[in-house]
Amino acid sequence: MANVMGFFHFLLLLSCFPFSLALQETHLPQINSNSVLVALLDSHYTELAELVEKALLLHTLEESVGKHNLTIFAPKNEALERNLDPEFKRFLLEPGNLKSLQTLLLYHIVPARIEPHSWPNSTSHSLLHPTLSHHRVQLSRQDSTGAQFIGTARVINPNAVNRPDGVIHGIEQLLIPRSVQQDFNNRRSLRSISAVKPEGAPEVDPKTHRLKKPAPPVKPGAAPVLPIYDAMAPGPSLAPAPAPGPGGPHHHFNGMRQVKDFIQTLVQYGGYNEMADILVNLTSLATEMGRLVSEGYVLTVLAPNDEAMAKLTTDQLSEPGAPEQIIYYHVIPEYQTEESMYNSVRRFGKVSYDTLRLPHKVLAQEADGSVKFGHGDGSAYLFDPDIYTDGRISVQGIDGVLFPPEEKSKEEKKTIKVATAKPRRGK
Ligand SMILES: *[C@@H]1O[C@H](CO)[C@@H](O)[C@H](O)[C@H]1NC(C)=O
Ligand SMILES: *[C@@H]1O[C@H](CO)[C@@H](O)[C@H](O)[C@H]1NC(C)=O
Ligand SMILES: *[C@@H]1O[C@H](CO)[C@@H](O)[C@H](O)[C@H]1NC(C)=O
Repeated sequence: MANVMGFFHFLLLLSCFPFSLALQETHLPQINSNSVLVALLDSHYTELAELVEKALLLHTLEESVGKHNLTIFAPKNEALERNLDPEFKRFLLEPGNLKSLQTLLLYHIVPARIEPHSWPNSTSHSLLHPTLSHHRVQLSRQDSTGAQFIGTARVINPNAVNRPDGVIHGIEQLLIPRSVQQDFNNRRSLRSISAVKPEGAPEVDPKTHRLKKPAPPVKPGAAPVLPIYDAMAPGPSLAPAPAPGPGGPHHHFNGMRQVKDFIQTLVQYGGYNEMADILVNLTSLATEMGRLVSEGYVLTVLAPNDEAMAKLTTDQLSEPGAPEQIIYYHVIPEYQTEESMYNSVRRFGKVSYDTLRLPHKVLAQEADGSVKFGHGDGSAYLFDPDIYTDGRISVQGIDGVLFPPEEKSKEEKKTIKVATAKPRRGK
């Protein structure tokens, strides 16, 4: 355990200091700065590196690399971002599916050194290698092109990284071991769906970003089939969403009731009247949130307090659709409490959360014993934890208004200054 923490500490240092200094600061003789593991975390395979950390696999890999060379087949970032079924990714990231995520990642790592010349030189000779997930993976070559394959993925960047204790080969797509695929399919209990190409899954019309056909029914309490973005009303300024029918077939929960409850709680809590006002006045926004919750989605709202909202200029609020956009950047399509967020930033240093303002993410990190969101000037501390939590909606009070980084310079010109009030943890 001390080792893991030591390693995280080490990583933290890596990101802050020049390399040599980082080395002096660590007391981990078993992990060499020249290790393939350090190289992975420092490589441009950032999505993979992030998943490895999220899967809490560093300790396992640290031990493994001490015993043998590692060959890491690293999917390019796109393969883990837009080319991956978002529903599958969500499945992997759910805390309850940690085992599946670990299996999937370990399936990309072979406890031996595989060099480009290790590939068989014709289709008739394929080689099987055991991986750290204990599944075997096949090395093969395509006769016509000579392309090297690992499982179903083409090797696009052989020897992307070569270190004394291992090598990283860049590959075109994620490898999905059968057992993980099965876990995923069972979870959805929709037999005909495969992880990468969801045949038979609901089709989204690319023009409208809406479902072509209604989503298949999910069992009450089950996670919704579609990523939340596909369930949202078309943007940028929201069309008024139809009010949820009273207990219609899709509505397992009365999400509207829950949204009203949390707005009321905000008002009673005090210091969040502006935010509550916006939600009350912009009925389309509250209705949309209510509808999403009714459909089984979960939300974490980072609510800026009145002081922070008061610093917004009229300009920023009066553009059509602006308040919606601002609020959507403060809504995370995950259920997070103060404790869960604090624990993740403690463990990982920095964590980025998706927001309903696609594709912008909000960055969270530990600062002064609290969680700090955003970057630089446009940052905000978690100020009033767990104002409202009902298992589907969580509301966390923050002391600033957040903007996506790209827009920060523009916003700064409009003299948005968010005070960093003295943070406090707990009440
Ligand atoms: C890793 O591979 C290199 C080169 O083949 C070899 O010299 C070294 O002994 C190997 N390390 C381990 C731990 O097997
Ligand atoms: C195929 O690879 C083997 C070693 O793996 C080598 O001995 C053989 O000469 C190669 N054949 C061709 C046609 O390159
Ligand atoms: C909400 O509506 C009330 C009444 O129309 C108005 O006084 C208030 O300023 C509005 N608040 C916001 C944030 O738009």
